Amino acid sequence: MKTARPTRPGSSAAMRLNGALPIAPAIRLSRAPGPSPRGEAAAEARERGLGKFTPGDFEFEVRRSYAGLGLRTKTAIPKGACVIEYWGRLLTKDEENTSNSKYLFAIDENTTIDGSPRANLARYINHSCRPNCEPEIYRKRVFIMARRNIKAGEELSYNYGEEYFDNHIKPHGCRCIKCDPERHEKLNGG
Ligand SMILES: C[S@@+](CC[C@H](N)C(=O)[O-])C[C@H]1O[C@@H](n2cnc3c(N)ncnc32)[C@H](O)[C@@H]1O
Ligand SMILES: [Zn+2]
Repeated sequence: MKTARPTRPGSSAAMRLNGALPIAPAIRLSRAPGPSPRGEAAAEARERGLGKFTPGDFEFEVRRSYAGLGLRTKTAIPKGACVIEYWGRLLTKDEENTSNSKYLFAIDENTTIDGSPRANLARYINHSCRPNCEPEIYRKRVFIMARRNIKAGEELSYNYGEEYFDNHIKPHGCRCIKCDPERHEKLNGG
């Protein structure tokens, strides 16, 4: 199974994970557009036989974080659970190359999701060099999985990958708990 990473506005072929092929896929949706209540999405996933990629019935909140907004879980999440799907519109190559969205996620060389909709709560998950989650691809969809047991109140994170890190995080300094523990102490009132 292939793990994919977010890509960035105006990203060139060189900046993408696997380069680009000159084939523009038809516009598809990775799921129906518009908000999807948590329970509804989970029920829909079960119906479609997603197995371990069925998102659990967890509650989340978008909060100010160490890097703008972030996503916290309000409920404990067990190791290995499917936390949430990263969904959005699938872009054509032209759209991807001209997009200004900061929520692009490259699944493979031909497929990129624009996770801009605010109802796509996974778009708020920040990068960490010591992440509690990791993205996995299944049937050209992105699922965020728990790498360890996650306590209620913890912020969710995954590793965006070397290319994204080097191009977009490193130049401004990574603010994750591993790279900037002082920031996290202050944020947590320490
Ligand atoms: C997919 S968005 C994550 C949500 C974003 N924080 C927000 O407020 O919408 C990715 C962007 O968040 C910021 N970011 C995420 N993780 C970061 C980190 N560890 N250090 C610094 N900036 C980070 C960067 O600006 C990055 O381009
Ligand atoms: Zn870091």
